[in-house]
Amino acid sequence: MREEGEIMGRLLSELRPYMLSILSVFAVSLTAIPLALVSPLPIKIIVDNVLGTQPLPGYLRIITTNPSQVSVQALVVIAIGILVVGTVLTNGQQLLNVWATNKVGNRITLETRARLFRQMQRLSILYHDTKGVTDSTYRVQYDALWLQLLAVDTLPTLVTSVFTVVGMILVMLVLDWELALIAMAVAPFMLLFTFVYRQRLRAGWKKVKTSESAAMSGAQESLSASRVVKAFGQEERENEQFFSRYSESARAALKVFVEGGVYNLLMGLVTAVGLAAVLYVGIGHVQSGTGTLTLGGLLIVNYYLTQIYGPLRDVGKRIIDVQKAFAGMDRFLEILDEEPDVKEAPNALQLTRANGRVVFEDVSFSYQQEHSVLQNVSFVLEPGSCLGVVGPTGSGKTTLSSLTLRFFDPTQGKITLDGVDLRQYKVADLRNQFAVVLQDTVLFSTTIAENIRFAKPKASMNEIVTAAKAAHVHEFITSLPDGYDTLVGERGMRLSGGERQRVSIARAFLKDAPILILDEPTSALDINTETAILDSMQDLMRGRTTLMIAHRPSTLRNCDTIVTLENGRIGGMEGMKVASA
Ligand SMILES: Nc1ncnc2c1ncn2[C@@H]1O[C@H](COP(=O)(O)OP(=O)(O)OP(=O)(O)O)[C@@H](O)[C@H]1O
Ligand SMILES: [Mg+2]
Repeated sequence: MREEGEIMGRLLSELRPYMLSILSVFAVSLTAIPLALVSPLPIKIIVDNVLGTQPLPGYLRIITTNPSQVSVQALVVIAIGILVVGTVLTNGQQLLNVWATNKVGNRITLETRARLFRQMQRLSILYHDTKGVTDSTYRVQYDALWLQLLAVDTLPTLVTSVFTVVGMILVMLVLDWELALIAMAVAPFMLLFTFVYRQRLRAGWKKVKTSESAAMSGAQESLSASRVVKAFGQEERENEQFFSRYSESARAALKVFVEGGVYNLLMGLVTAVGLAAVLYVGIGHVQSGTGTLTLGGLLIVNYYLTQIYGPLRDVGKRIIDVQKAFAGMDRFLEILDEEPDVKEAPNALQLTRANGRVVFEDVSFSYQQEHSVLQNVSFVLEPGSCLGVVGPTGSGKTTLSSLTLRFFDPTQGKITLDGVDLRQYKVADLRNQFAVVLQDTVLFSTTIAENIRFAKPKASMNEIVTAAKAAHVHEFITSLPDGYDTLVGERGMRLSGGERQRVSIARAFLKDAPILILDEPTSALDINTETAILDSMQDLMRGRTTLMIAHRPSTLRNCDTIVTLENGRIGGMEGMKVASA
């Protein structure tokens, strides 16, 4: 965990763009203080000056030059006037506060979420593979809220509460300094409890968040793999796991709530002790009449003490909120500070359209340090030629294509495109050189047409149909009741594996890119469809560089060279249309 000071510093720098707005929220919030201080005044006037016979207080002498002439009726009107105006102003202030808080706060949250999302898009495939989608979603959805809460809710309330307490103490000092001292004697205890509980609560909240987002990930994963769960009859076990994961987060939450409750209880007890002492001593002061304390004054002190518990508890609650918020901020900063594994060079080269000469020079790669997946792989892919890659499962074929796309950087050696290291290009420009069919076809939950258009957002319907025809999926699409407007469901689950694959081939066909990367593009298709697609692929491959990965050598019959990968090493290389026989 970061130090509080560091988080505070980061918070300030994150909030710099909103400083003016936040200051206005603070200003609105602070206007609550005089209103809170003035609210018991009418009671004092009634008790001391209307019912009692105390001399008029100084501020009323301003109204008239001759205080003894102020009639009782006039005093009643003044008292009621203060009451009514005070109530109206207090409600107006609250309305203004809600409006300002939400206006500024919503903007902060929106922009924070957008920043987090943008940062997540920057982070590498490896990050997302490791952390999981749900954790990231949780951070965008919930952890991004803390900036708003801190800036426009928690901190202004905290400051207002502190000033209100200080103001009340000042007024009490004027009314009766002994009582004020007694009231203040409780403050050190409050500080002590707050200090003790602060650290514990923050660690507790961080644990709640971590276990909550882990539980959510588990639930999400289980639901999205519902076919597998049902097929293996594991619903009950999934239910148990769900229960036990959420139980853990519930336990963690209960623990912090209880600790928070104990903290509130201690604060309440301390306040009650203070209140009792003040009443006891105060009654003596009023009865003896030796001091300046009037009955109305004691009522004010009493009122403040019951009210001070509110702001004080607010201070306590807000300090707990600050702990929660800091735990959330910590997770939020974790993402912002995460350096993408794949970084763009400072003076990255632009690339409009590559010739397509791809060279692997002694490339080694490992996902984890111990276990190397590719070792000393070297080959040349000439522009316009096709390189086929075969090899057993797990030999590193998909890794090879991921490196070419620069999803990762090689641990050793380098990959060049047109003689320049991939790391020197602008990442977006580089990726734009490829049309890709991935091994696991992923479609978006929209229409078939939109899924194909993803490769080229401005494509006309004509182009989409042409691509679909080349991928031999046009007839299937038009046979559907909604045709190209058919919704494919989440991740395309409403299509068959082969249909999804053909839609993704159409998507790759639509993108006019100089390099094609096809990872098992026909693995889910029958031999006849495969043959038809490979034939139309030949047109597509003309004038383009192709890297084609397959298990079946027959898939690679259009390739000029075939490389065999074994355990991450090149086991063999055969030239010139070997498989065409
Ligand atoms: N994200 C990852 N993190 C850690 N290890 C990984 C990751 N992806 C793949 N691996 C490991 O790298 C090795 C090569 O994986 P790769 O996906 O490249 O194999 P492949 O040749 O494409 O296999 P297949 O024919 O089954 O598609 C495997 O041993 C796999 O366990
Ligand atoms: Mg693979």
